[in-house]
Amino acid sequence: MSRDRHGFSIRRRLTAQLLVVAAVLAGLLFYSIRTVADVAVEQTQDRILGAATLAIAEELRGGQDGIVIDIPYSAFSMLGALGNDRIFYRIEVNGELATGYADLPLPPTLPSGLDPEFYDSRYLGYAVRVAAVSRSVLVAGKTVPVLIVVAQTRSVQESIVAGLTNRALLLGLGFFGLAALLAVAMARSVLQPVNDLAGAVTRRGPQDLRPVKRQVPEELGPLVNALNGFIGRLSGALSRTETFIAEAAHYIRTPLTTLRAQSEIALRQTESDETKEHLRKIIRLADNTARSASQLLDHAAVIYRTDQRSDEALALDQVIADIVEAFRPSAEMRDIELGYHRPDTAVTIAADRLLIETVIRNLIDNAIKYSDELGAVEVALSAADGFARITVSDRGRGLGGMKLEALGNRFERGGNVQDVIGSGLGLSIVTEVARAYGGTLELTERKGGGACACFSLPLA
Ligand SMILES: Nc1ncnc2c1ncn2[C@@H]1O[C@H](COP(=O)(O)OP(=O)(O)OP(=O)(O)O)[C@@H](O)[C@H]1O
Ligand SMILES: [Mg+2]
Repeated sequence: MSRDRHGFSIRRRLTAQLLVVAAVLAGLLFYSIRTVADVAVEQTQDRILGAATLAIAEELRGGQDGIVIDIPYSAFSMLGALGNDRIFYRIEVNGELATGYADLPLPPTLPSGLDPEFYDSRYLGYAVRVAAVSRSVLVAGKTVPVLIVVAQTRSVQESIVAGLTNRALLLGLGFFGLAALLAVAMARSVLQPVNDLAGAVTRRGPQDLRPVKRQVPEELGPLVNALNGFIGRLSGALSRTETFIAEAAHYIRTPLTTLRAQSEIALRQTESDETKEHLRKIIRLADNTARSASQLLDHAAVIYRTDQRSDEALALDQVIADIVEAFRPSAEMRDIELGYHRPDTAVTIAADRLLIETVIRNLIDNAIKYSDELGAVEVALSAADGFARITVSDRGRGLGGMKLEALGNRFERGGNVQDVIGSGLGLSIVTEVARAYGGTLELTERKGGGACACFSLPLA
């Protein structure tokens, strides 16, 4: 089946949708890990920076002569704990630089409480994190405001965050990979019941028109109900067709038989040659119509049966022998010798009896019909190369140069058979059956006059 007929694939679409969801979740995971890491690292740096700034503030001493600023070594060792960041400081007393870097950026507003205030800034081309704290110191009986500003470059913080970002990226990718595998497996398992149902319906034999009784998931219930409704209507239509074929056969043949019988009686009673001629034409037409009707009905039955085959093991030898015997009276009536060459071993095929009988009847019928009086028809059965071969040969008028390709068409008759009753459907019925079973039909002219039909079917 072509893909165009199928449209899109639910499995692919479902997988794609699950993958998009997985990608979004993986992205969110990455982003939140990064944000949390950023905040955590900054808070850690702030704590250390704040503690160092407070340690400097605690060492401020006031007195009569001024302020003693003694920067404790512990403050810098604390800041070095995280790594090799650069540290800058600035201490202002009464708004004037007491020690440190005069241009280190000051806080946007002066810190009021006892706790340090933190802010981001740039200094000497570095991004820095800054802590500022203010204190009042008593100098010669007066309180003097002191501002302590300590800045630290952020390279250690950035490298820690970069390391964590890499891990978050790996984690996100791993999460996505796992989710992708699960998505494929999930899409497959969700569609499994659909595939199971399709498989079960496909595996059915051609004449299995029972409703589907499998347990299916709730969502497939409407589909199975619709399928069962369809199967029900189909088998109803088929059985109506079967009845119709049988009834039509009856209603066409019965009046024709009566018409023919009445014409025969009239033919015997009449004296006028002209009327006799008319009556003969009527009888011939009735025969032709009866033949056409029965061949049309056979054709319909064959088409119906090729869809609804009930194949069985057929002993071909016996099937042919029975048909040959049934034809013997009509052959003898025309003094035609009807011979059957039986094989030594059994030839068995798996096929529908009605179809095979129709084929053999049509071939023998043609051979007898197109033979002259005192002719000979030979039927033979053999098996070779996995095929059963049925040949029917006669010494009749031959094909008149026509080929099977033309003669096998519906209603097609040879140019040399106008005097014989026929509808032109026999060979198309035979071809139909050959096609249904993977067999072949050959029809050839015989050396020395006559025709030979050969029908082959695969052996069971
Ligand atoms: N054994 C044969 N000898 C000569 N001609 C044949 C033979 N078998 C088939 N033909 C030719 O092939 C044509 C088609 O055969 P086919 O059996 O399909 O139709 P039919 O015999 O004319 O009619 P019917 O449907 O009643 O059998 C025949 O009309 C005839 O011309
Ligand atoms: Mg025929």
